[in-house]
Amino acid sequence: MLEKLENLKQQFIQEKEGVKNLESLNDFKIKYLGKKGFVTSLFSIMKDLSPEERKDFGNHINKLKNEIEDFIAQLSDTYIKMETEKKLKNEWLDITMPFKQNKFSGHLSPISRITFEIMDIFKNLGFSIFDGPQSEDDYHNFTALNIPETHPARDMQDTFWLKNKMLLRTHTSPVQIRAMETFDPPLKGIAPGKVFRYEAIDASHEISFYQVEGIMIDKNISVANLIYFMKTLLSEIFKKDIKIRLRPGFFPFVEPGFELDIQCLICGGKGCSVCKNVGWVELLPCGLMHPNVLKEGGINPEKWTGFAFGLGLSRLAMMSYGINDIRWFASGDLRFLEQF
Ligand code: DAH
Repeated sequence: MLEKLENLKQQFIQEKEGVKNLESLNDFKIKYLGKKGFVTSLFSIMKDLSPEERKDFGNHINKLKNEIEDFIAQLSDTYIKMETEKKLKNEWLDITMPFKQNKFSGHLSPISRITFEIMDIFKNLGFSIFDGPQSEDDYHNFTALNIPETHPARDMQDTFWLKNKMLLRTHTSPVQIRAMETFDPPLKGIAPGKVFRYEAIDASHEISFYQVEGIMIDKNISVANLIYFMKTLLSEIFKKDIKIRLRPGFFPFVEPGFELDIQCLICGGKGCSVCKNVGWVELLPCGLMHPNVLKEGGINPEKWTGFAFGLGLSRLAMMSYGINDIRWFASGDLRFLEQF
């Protein structure tokens, strides 16, 4: 018995010299300590020994087993360290390097681009940027904007109602009220954002689209201030002369109210699906803030006046980039997005 053990020991001493890497160490481990390995099979013959022999043999074989285990553990540490170092050397990566632009890199959607552009223009004119929730309450979306519950103007904006009596805001105008609740006049700011309408979808209508609301409240604000800002805004955006027309428009939260149309830039006024063949596109409804709205915002209309506007951001992006169908924006089609 002991002779077998001695032989195994000699074999181990010889063979361990042949272990040169993690792979051969693994084979070695299986060969000696695996289920059918040399050491394991020596243990199995112990049952045929007398109790004394068994004790002695057990001691020896355990000693050898420990020796083999120590050898494996030590080498395995060394090899793992070596392999890791080799890997680090070969797979070296400089995480401070600027990444390579390729055709699959992410980029801003046309809506984000135009939003940032508008924000820059208004920041230069001294306007703040306001934000408001997309899930709104009836008060901010309608009542505070001079649209009481029974007012027919509510029908102008088909609304998605939520279960908790909240709604998806139908316009960015509720941010007017939220801004007045938060800040004292004089006040000027814009609020870009997403709005929702329960509407039939076509080339110029989507159930969700983008607007920018703007207000300016100060002493003696008049229609002249409004027109000046609207003209400045449009010339900054399009960087060229744009034909505009101003019509009276009805919105309960402004008095007087206007519709500012621009000549369609897709067809140059000839008529197309975007302008519904009229050659003009409604882009910038606006007006002087209604005294009731100022009052709801906690501002004294005897002392302060203001103008407000709601710019159709999705339409503006369509005009600026020559996009002929509003449905492209939410299509998720990479061929469309990759152009920007
Ligand atoms: N909130 C209106 C809408 O979505 C647009 C609008 C009209 C906003 C006139 C205004 C405004 O601030 O003065 O239909």
